Amino acid sequence: MAEDLDIATGTKVEQYQSLLPQIRGLLEGEKDIIANMANITAALKEQFQWLWVGFYVVKGNELVLAPFQGPVACTRIQKGRGVCGTCWQQATTLIAPDVEKFPGHIACSSLSKSEIVVPIIKDGEVVAVLDVDSESYDFFDDTDKKYLGEIVGLINF
Ligand code: SME
Repeated sequence: MAEDLDIATGTKVEQYQSLLPQIRGLLEGEKDIIANMANITAALKEQFQWLWVGFYVVKGNELVLAPFQGPVACTRIQKGRGVCGTCWQQATTLIAPDVEKFPGHIACSSLSKSEIVVPIIKDGEVVAVLDVDSESYDFFDDTDKKYLGEIVGLINF
């Protein structure tokens, strides 16, 4: 399989629509969750150049850092803490247009200004979250929510 990603230009929707089948191709025939999370973060980072994109996986009563692209990040997050821990608790996608206004936000990087966190739900339980940070305020919207939700749905947790 050719490993080079075809980087799209155009609207956000066009970029996601170009990326989605490529991510599906990358995951095809590969069952390893870490390998698949790793390639998803690399593909998203390459296409969108976000500050940070990565997974946190539920382990016991904490979220633990998993494959990501971007600056080093905090390794463990408690349920209900920060945007990630709140996403886990509420089992719903959260968008923080200004992270400093989100109660309890955990600042892994001072460069992060806005954030989206998407839960990955298996058998009714959150098993992981996908977290994306931007250096711009108000960067994420329902388009990101929809396509990131579709992308994480491709992983066989
Ligand atoms: N800001 C997140 C912590 C994770 S980092 O952004 C990578 C939060 O508030 O949960």
